[in-house]
Amino acid sequence: MSRSLRGRLKDLENHQPSAWCEIGAGARPNLHGLLRYPAMMVPRMQGDIIDAIMAGTGRGSQVMDPFVGSGTIMTEALLRGLDFTGIDINPLAVLVCEAKAAIDGGANVEGAAEQLLHAVRFDVDETIDVDFPGLSKWFDNPCASRLSRIRRGIMRIDDSASRKVMWTVFAETIRQCSNSRTSTYKLHMRAPGDRIEADRIVTVFELNLRQTLQRIAAYRALIATRARKDPEVRLICDDVRNAVVGDRCGEHQILVTSPPYGDNVTTIPYGQFSYLAMRWIPACDLRGPVEPLMANSHALDTASLGGSLKETQAKADAVRGASPSLDAFMAMAAKEGRSHGVRKVAIFMADFLAALKHIRATSPGPAHWVLTTGNRTAASMQVPFDDICREMVCALGARHIASLQRRLPGKRMPSRNNMGAMITTETTVVVEFA
Ligand SMILES: C[S@@+](CC[C@H](N)C(=O)[O-])C[C@H]1O[C@@H](n2cnc3c(N)ncnc32)[C@H](O)[C@@H]1O
Repeated sequence: MSRSLRGRLKDLENHQPSAWCEIGAGARPNLHGLLRYPAMMVPRMQGDIIDAIMAGTGRGSQVMDPFVGSGTIMTEALLRGLDFTGIDINPLAVLVCEAKAAIDGGANVEGAAEQLLHAVRFDVDETIDVDFPGLSKWFDNPCASRLSRIRRGIMRIDDSASRKVMWTVFAETIRQCSNSRTSTYKLHMRAPGDRIEADRIVTVFELNLRQTLQRIAAYRALIATRARKDPEVRLICDDVRNAVVGDRCGEHQILVTSPPYGDNVTTIPYGQFSYLAMRWIPACDLRGPVEPLMANSHALDTASLGGSLKETQAKADAVRGASPSLDAFMAMAAKEGRSHGVRKVAIFMADFLAALKHIRATSPGPAHWVLTTGNRTAASMQVPFDDICREMVCALGARHIASLQRRLPGKRMPSRNNMGAMITTETTVVVEFA
């Protein structure tokens, strides 16, 4: 069985469909383009790998993504009628996934949109409904008052499923209309000439809403012929190292994910990217313990894998021996006097290993794991995360099946943090737990 899967994956790698390296709007059709989230995966490639595994296993499978982000894998799983479990520490990411689940479940988004547009059009109140440190820095008063009108309109929608879809549209509007640049994931002041005028904000929201409705229509056309009508979706907003997944009685699991490839601060600051939207969306519509994660614009990044510098030595000790490539990297850094510069790499890898161990311990049955990783540099040294990741999962008892390299569309590097950029240097490792 595994040999034939290996053959299928080799074929895929040798004859990569053009969709694997497409960039721009076309690369993220239907629900894949609901919110521009950092480091999204290439949907078609991951879907093709799921198909190859399904063809090889011949059993019912459920799909899991423990770093679900904006839900690329979730959408691919649901398009195939497969049950799905997603975990993420970021409440905004989980909200987007909840919105996708609501759309899949048939929420009356069109009705909610009509009600919302009517409410916003007739709201002339200038009140600003939110307050948080930095509000006036990131939003001028007239902009904050227009956003408050949209927020009030969304809060009046009774159906929580449709409301979550509207919050997703609102989050995208906030990204476009705040005073922070759209060209970086970090909070960074825009030049005054680049700001969106308050009078345009409702129009921007309406345009985003119309695009969302088109995406929903395209998605619903695709699932109309799906063999299983109501796949189950479970979403957990928590640190993956604590998440209680719950065993599904030895059912075959396809775990497909793209983990972070280093601590958020020195790689991709998912928390900063999400901060403003999370401040505008009422906490009651966000999952998880939201307040501590919004204490400031860095709190979520600090709570994510590799974010805390506490117990540095204990973590470096814990990860030693888990991966020969990591040991060699750390030894090389020590030899060149760069141990301090790479200490966050050791901390991240220790957290990542703890996450992998927890996932395997809580879902111990037969499984295929598909992990797409990006490499990075730290202290001017290349961190071989693809090798480290493969060695860590194999140390947990997995058997390596294949490593796929995707042909890259261009030289755009994720480190430049282009908005909407996908991981562009990557290896996808496929392993099997018997
Ligand atoms: C590369 S992104 C996933 C992107 C996703 N594949 C997509 O296509 O949108 C990695 C995710 O890991 C999440 N993450 C980081 N630390 C985490 C932790 N300790 N527990 C759970 N999720 C975490 C981040 O919030 C981020 O959403």
